[in-house]
Amino acid sequence: MKTKFTLETMLHKNVRRVIISSTFFVIIVFTTSFSYAQENNVTVCNLRTEYLKNPLGIDMLHPRFSWVIESSERNIIQSAYEVQVASSLQNLSDNNADIWDTQKILSDTSVNISYQGKQLKSDQSYYWRIRIWDNGGTVSSWSKINFFHTGLFNRSDWTGQWIAPKDTNISSPLLRKEFNITKQIKRAYVFICGLGYYEFYLNGKRVGNHVLDPGTSDFNKRALYVTYNVKNYLQEGLNAAGVWLGNGYFRTDDKNFRHYGSRPQLIFQMNIEYEDGSSVHIVSNNSWKVSGSPILSNSIYNGEVYDARYEKEGWDLPSYDDSQWKNAINIVSPKNRILSAQLMPPIKVDKIIYPISMSEPLNGVYIFDFGQNFSGYPILRVDGGEGEKVIMKTAEVTRKDMLSMQDRRTEGIVDTIDASGDRSAKATDIYILSGKPGTEVYTPKFTQQGFRYVQLEGFPGQPDLTSLSAAFVHSSVQETGEFDCSNSLFNKIHKNVLWGQRSNLMSMPTDCDQRDERMGWMADADLSAEEAIYNFDMAAFYTNWLRDIQDEQHADGSVPDIAPDHKWLKGTYRGTPAWQAAYPLVVWYVHKYYGDNRILSEHYKSLKKWMGYMKSISKDYIITSGRGDWVQPERGGYAGDGSVPITSTGYYYTSAEIMKKTADILGKKEDEMYFSVLADSIKKSFNKHFWNASNGYYGNDSQTSNAFSLYAGVVPKEHQEKVVKSLVRNILLKHNGHLWTGILGTKALIEVLSKCNRIDVLNKIVDQTTYPGWGYMVSKGATTLWERWGGYKYFDAGMNSLNHIMFGSVDEFFYKDLAGIRAEEPGFKNILIKPFITGDLTFAKGTVNTVMGLVSSEWHKAGNEIKLDVSIPVNSNAIVEIPKSGLKGPFVLKESGKIIWEDSTLQDQVEEKLSVKESGSYFQVTVGSGNYSFELIGQ
Ligand code: BGC
Repeated sequence: MKTKFTLETMLHKNVRRVIISSTFFVIIVFTTSFSYAQENNVTVCNLRTEYLKNPLGIDMLHPRFSWVIESSERNIIQSAYEVQVASSLQNLSDNNADIWDTQKILSDTSVNISYQGKQLKSDQSYYWRIRIWDNGGTVSSWSKINFFHTGLFNRSDWTGQWIAPKDTNISSPLLRKEFNITKQIKRAYVFICGLGYYEFYLNGKRVGNHVLDPGTSDFNKRALYVTYNVKNYLQEGLNAAGVWLGNGYFRTDDKNFRHYGSRPQLIFQMNIEYEDGSSVHIVSNNSWKVSGSPILSNSIYNGEVYDARYEKEGWDLPSYDDSQWKNAINIVSPKNRILSAQLMPPIKVDKIIYPISMSEPLNGVYIFDFGQNFSGYPILRVDGGEGEKVIMKTAEVTRKDMLSMQDRRTEGIVDTIDASGDRSAKATDIYILSGKPGTEVYTPKFTQQGFRYVQLEGFPGQPDLTSLSAAFVHSSVQETGEFDCSNSLFNKIHKNVLWGQRSNLMSMPTDCDQRDERMGWMADADLSAEEAIYNFDMAAFYTNWLRDIQDEQHADGSVPDIAPDHKWLKGTYRGTPAWQAAYPLVVWYVHKYYGDNRILSEHYKSLKKWMGYMKSISKDYIITSGRGDWVQPERGGYAGDGSVPITSTGYYYTSAEIMKKTADILGKKEDEMYFSVLADSIKKSFNKHFWNASNGYYGNDSQTSNAFSLYAGVVPKEHQEKVVKSLVRNILLKHNGHLWTGILGTKALIEVLSKCNRIDVLNKIVDQTTYPGWGYMVSKGATTLWERWGGYKYFDAGMNSLNHIMFGSVDEFFYKDLAGIRAEEPGFKNILIKPFITGDLTFAKGTVNTVMGLVSSEWHKAGNEIKLDVSIPVNSNAIVEIPKSGLKGPFVLKESGKIIWEDSTLQDQVEEKLSVKESGSYFQVTVGSGNYSFELIGQ
């Protein structure tokens, strides 16, 4: 469903006509010379470089700039912009854009403007600002000055070497280096990568607040380095740099998992420039000193053992006696390992969570309940004697929880934790006390767990609720969405989605956060991607992850099901269609929601190659292999409704369509034709194989077979009604208003039911508290989303995480349908606000902070009146569809208290002249930017 904006969309005080071509948005602005600069109050804010605010480490030669425009006026469009870039803050403040000045560029683009100035140099700060002209010809003030600092563009810029301890038995080494500073420092930046994880200290202070850094990647191919501005950490005279390394995904305990080396390793470079113009580099080499640390073992899956008796006080300060420490050794890094800047939000502590209760089911065994399932680690506060050992084991459930989820009796059960869902992951942190006077506080460094409960053992004395807290840890993507409505179950489901989504962002989108997997399973990611994009700023995160997928592509074009790849699949395993299809889909989402065209060109060649692989596994355009609709109710995994060829071929078709549109955008006419023909052929063959003409359904009439066919877009118009009828019959009659789908079919259901005007059915599905559905999880106490609809009721712990995000697509129903916010053009340049008012809902509200600015929609229904408040960001346009919601005419439509529609006609006398159309069950109003308050009164 694509809305075209070909009208005069805005008329406001002066005659300003914006003619917008449906595809390219060539804007021609006719304007009176009348200036109303002060009135307009246009400001430019939220400047971002490569989606990040003032990033350090930009390592592309043409980074892209984006900004947001704000105004209290309506109908503001950017008609031109000017970007200035300077080599110093002073220069730019003095109006000397010595690096780049675009001058006035006529364009309405405010997202992803590619830098085209003088060649950028490594390790330099660049300052930039922007001003814009609006459609009235008025120029804004200059924005605040923002900056970016470049990383190291070339491998030869790195003079530091990969180093490591000689002794492979050291679990978590400390590395240190002292150096002298004799002159005044002008600037100092550090570029650092520690594999698997590092913490960096200068002169006794921790630098930065990232945890579990850097992001994981296929370390044989790429490692991410992080850039820090360290000038303020340095001092004249002797200085000390210290780096603490952990294993992360680089050296896992189980060699069958990801395992890249026998010891953690470091590359480090500090570039110092003195005020006198001279410079020095402090770099990693074998002059660095290495020692073991109090961390005796560390594993992302198994937890950490920390013996505080081995703490080396002052190890990160100058003049520490390291005479007993050994020298580091140089490590030869894999020939093809690229060092790339980490240009995504790092993993950080989101917040500290406190337990809501503590119990002692067995003598000396304490259970702390944090009231919420989440990713992170416990933090211990303890007083006690030297050598005493405190054990913290984490779990998602207690034994009683487990039994009650299975509808079994819990009387007499000793309610310790049940950690069977962690499978082989030990998820246990052990702290051995130093015995020093005062309270000892222990926070694990190089591990992470998914849990709600902590079982504490060996605690000296009697713990209380202050003995444990926990850090909630995940990639620090900014929250962009909010949703609220009058149905408390929906609000709770939404909340569970948020906890689940955050918990599963660990520099890559993970499947789960607790058991021995926690990997970038690709279908899990793409099925929740749109939900994630509504809730969080995912642009930089997905840009990084898509490159991980590209890195993993095999010579035959296939990509694995997991990115970064997993050792047990490596090389031999070919992905399955529905998991691999995350590659084109997420590329497309980044384009669609962030107005990003570079993502299309960067991945085009690889995607084309991947399409070649898909073709090679197809026969008569049909792909029969795959896992299909994973974890349908009562299924252990693989789809059980015969729909595998439908979903696999459906994704093949969807991918061909994406390639067709991408080729068109990139101007590759021949390819566009090729993919267009391919898509048609797949569609024909799909219908030939799967359409049951006599009965009017696809496959064997399962929900997934019908919903997925509709979702993929292969259903010819003339069949649609019948398919929807079959689908609805299955939901309402066969399953009593419940879904009967796995992860693929569920996303399909959510997408198609509103499109096919059966929002009532979708509302019914989501509003269920009986099995299967999200509400069933809630009724069983879920605080996140589960991997399986029935949780432990139908399956044991083998594959039964309680914090999976792959059913998170339900949030699309909340944002797209109930709040009614949809991006109609790349990057929310055009927006559709089309809320569905259904069931007994009386109110819904959604806000999304998009690349264009804030979009919001809030409706209330009372009696024969529907109120809809809408905000459209500057430089965007929208079609607002106000639902009649069962009301009968005659209708009166007001905007901000003024009647704009009455007696079936547009009222001319209104000050704000909006284009209004009555269309079926909606009133359709075309609006420009601004805040609007509609009131529809019926009978
Ligand atoms: C993961 C899933 C994943 C699936 C595919 C599981 O172990 O946790 O979320 O998509 O495997 O087989």
